[in-house]
Amino acid sequence: MNNGSYEFKVSAAGRVNLIGEHVDYCGGKVLPCALSLKNTVSVRPNGTNTLNIAWTDLSDRVSLDLDKLESYRGEKHARYIAGSAFFWRQAGHRLVGCDMLYDCTVPFGSGLSSSAAIEVSTIAALTAAAGEKFEPVAAALAAQRAEHEFAGVNCGIMDQYVSAAGKANNALLLDCSTLECEYIPVRMGDCSLVIANCNKPHSLVESKYNERREEVETALRILRRRLDVSSLAAVPAFRLEEYRSALPPIVYRRAKHVVEECARVAKAASALRLGDMKGFGALLNASHRSLSELYEVTGRELDALAHAAQRHPSCYGSRMTGAGFGGCTVSVVRTGGLDNFMTYVTEEYQRETGYEPTFYTTHISDGVEIMRL
Ligand code: GLA
Repeated sequence: MNNGSYEFKVSAAGRVNLIGEHVDYCGGKVLPCALSLKNTVSVRPNGTNTLNIAWTDLSDRVSLDLDKLESYRGEKHARYIAGSAFFWRQAGHRLVGCDMLYDCTVPFGSGLSSSAAIEVSTIAALTAAAGEKFEPVAAALAAQRAEHEFAGVNCGIMDQYVSAAGKANNALLLDCSTLECEYIPVRMGDCSLVIANCNKPHSLVESKYNERREEVETALRILRRRLDVSSLAAVPAFRLEEYRSALPPIVYRRAKHVVEECARVAKAASALRLGDMKGFGALLNASHRSLSELYEVTGRELDALAHAAQRHPSCYGSRMTGAGFGGCTVSVVRTGGLDNFMTYVTEEYQRETGYEPTFYTTHISDGVEIMRL
């Protein structure tokens, strides 16, 4: 394929979630940001009925017949593309055959949502090629279905939504029960956001993720026999305590995380609006602790990385971000102490786990960008 002759360059972002972890599929609010780490698709219509897919850094070349999209569920990378196209068409949109060159700067398996970036950029690229207008919420919903049905992860809507609707320099306070969102400018004063990858090769993320989701669904089912609530996020903390004995202990702990994390998101949004980075950081620490002790999605490496960060005097707070079981932490660090922070965290983390962390240089960016070439 000749890179010079594409018609559009379309990108969609990876994300970091500041707080509100494992609550999107419980109807809670989340506070993610789109990142400048992203997937870019160069695209041109090719007048056929196929999507010809190539990657800048993978040798796979795949052609997807638009009439057989459902048959590509077994493809390692292309299933995300086939699934997104499939559900986009099912939502009533027109697909045209295209040549598509993918370039992903979101590290795979990092917990920064490379899959959402690929899915959303696919839909945005197909939309541009078909001469349609991009609709962020519809695109996010189709991308989420692709993740459920072509990748087998029963995810919430957060990643796809922020990838499609993120805005530079803003966090997105997304209500996952109504899909309404509010942008909050991220003004951190003398602080910076630091994203670090624990670099533990993770495994079984999908099955453990789906297991957590089943546990909170069990909690909701039991509570709804006693309470008139539509989601776990709507359960007041005192009610959960009242019905604690009706829940199996593990299910209670999972539900307690969800209910308390939802309260932390509200407080964190206020702290962010006020520029209170100390208060914001304390909420990140509390979130990590809950994800480690109640929701049990951290593991030794993410705990070691977050705790090393939390011990550093320039750090106001640190937590795992994303699904967990490996992946990244996000920390709020005074900018003046950044170099010392990274050296300290690297040494401590390496001593405790034997892995070396990676720090990413990135910033909060728009979710989708569509450029005619
Ligand atoms: C993954 C999922 C999201 C969300 C997070 C945890 O990133 O894709 O929907 O559930 O985990 O907050």
